[in-house]
Amino acid sequence: MSERIVKRNATSDVLTTTDSLLRATGLTAAYTVDGGEVVAVDDVSIDMRRGEVLGVAGESGCGKSTLGAVLSLTLRPPLFVRSGELEVDGRRLDLGPHQKPPRSWRGEVVSLLPQGAMNSLSPTVRIRDFAYDVIRAHQSGVRRDDAIERTRQRLEHLDLPRRVLDYYPHQLSGGMKQRVVTVISTLLNPRLLIADEPTSALDVSSQRVLIEMLKEMLSEEIIGGVIFITHDLPVLNIVADRIAIMYAGQIAEVGTARDIINQPRHPYSAALLSSVLVPEPAMRRTRVQGIPGAPPSLMHPPGGCRFHPRCGLVMDVCRDQAPPKVGDERRFASCWWAEQNPGQNPSQNPSRAREV
Ligand SMILES: Nc1ncnc2c1ncn2[C@@H]1O[C@H](COP(=O)(O)OP(=O)(O)OP(=O)(O)O)[C@@H](O)[C@H]1O
Ligand code: SF4
Ligand SMILES: [Mg+2]
Repeated sequence: MSERIVKRNATSDVLTTTDSLLRATGLTAAYTVDGGEVVAVDDVSIDMRRGEVLGVAGESGCGKSTLGAVLSLTLRPPLFVRSGELEVDGRRLDLGPHQKPPRSWRGEVVSLLPQGAMNSLSPTVRIRDFAYDVIRAHQSGVRRDDAIERTRQRLEHLDLPRRVLDYYPHQLSGGMKQRVVTVISTLLNPRLLIADEPTSALDVSSQRVLIEMLKEMLSEEIIGGVIFITHDLPVLNIVADRIAIMYAGQIAEVGTARDIINQPRHPYSAALLSSVLVPEPAMRRTRVQGIPGAPPSLMHPPGGCRFHPRCGLVMDVCRDQAPPKVGDERRFASCWWAEQNPGQNPSQNPSRAREV
């Protein structure tokens, strides 16, 4: 698929069945802890098209990695899925406490590049053996030579030197290590790659090289789409077609990267953006202001809108009633203020009670 077509699909308003890569509906997952449950993903629905990069951003602890674990079917106790449904590339799966996802999904349909993946490589295992172990975990009968040959071909295809197969992790630079781990996590050509903070430990030039490699993998359909989880909104401005902003286990707002960055509708998105960057005139990295207060406990989240204790636009209704989803699956903000002020940017609201 060409870059041009990827972009067209990513921004067109018309969604056909064949465009759809991911429909995740009503995902709810909780950690069992002493004294109760931490519901870290609460009724989250996501919609993605083929060839898209969907960025997921939000403060630490808002549930990004938990969402990644649910989508990639890699969750382990004490994390459990309560409910939800996945449809990836036309394949449907019901999720729930008693559902066992088919093994064939992991790696082939969905694959996770976990947070901190490159640092979890064993220092005593060569890259070739790591690749073999990964492939063998999905295809138990695979021959070692075949697995290594497949890895070599993929590395070369993506302009990475074959000699890295003989290296131990410490012999690779951070950027190269992350690219190699990314290549290995996509050897089975997953339709959906969930990349959790893939660029966080990299310098700017290594970030750019990794992003270019992901774009190439998308344009060649080695992968069908990427969920790119990060704290780093300037990186999402470069890599993402669309962005979902998470707050306290829920999606506060979703839209095209351009809309979210230039025209946010949710006060939390506006606050998050103003805390890391100034969108205009150019995407300058300027730390402007933090968001007052702290995210709530997910064991006992506040009633009504979860952002209400920190929101400068809070109204009485926000304290009592969960906010409506204003918009459609592709572009919405869950917010009473957004409902009453259609199309407006909360950061430009002159009557706000205090800086959001
Ligand atoms: N093993 C666990 N047991 C109990 N609670 C957990 C566990 N792991 C995570 N949590 C809680 O679940 C919530 C979501 O965590 P998660 O790691 O998904 O957040 P995150 O958005 O990925 O954060 P970060 O940006 O720091 O990576 C947090 O409140 C966290 O404390
Ligand atoms: S629903 Fe109310 S409290 Fe929540 S973000 Fe919107 S205005 Fe703020
Ligand atoms: Mg995380």
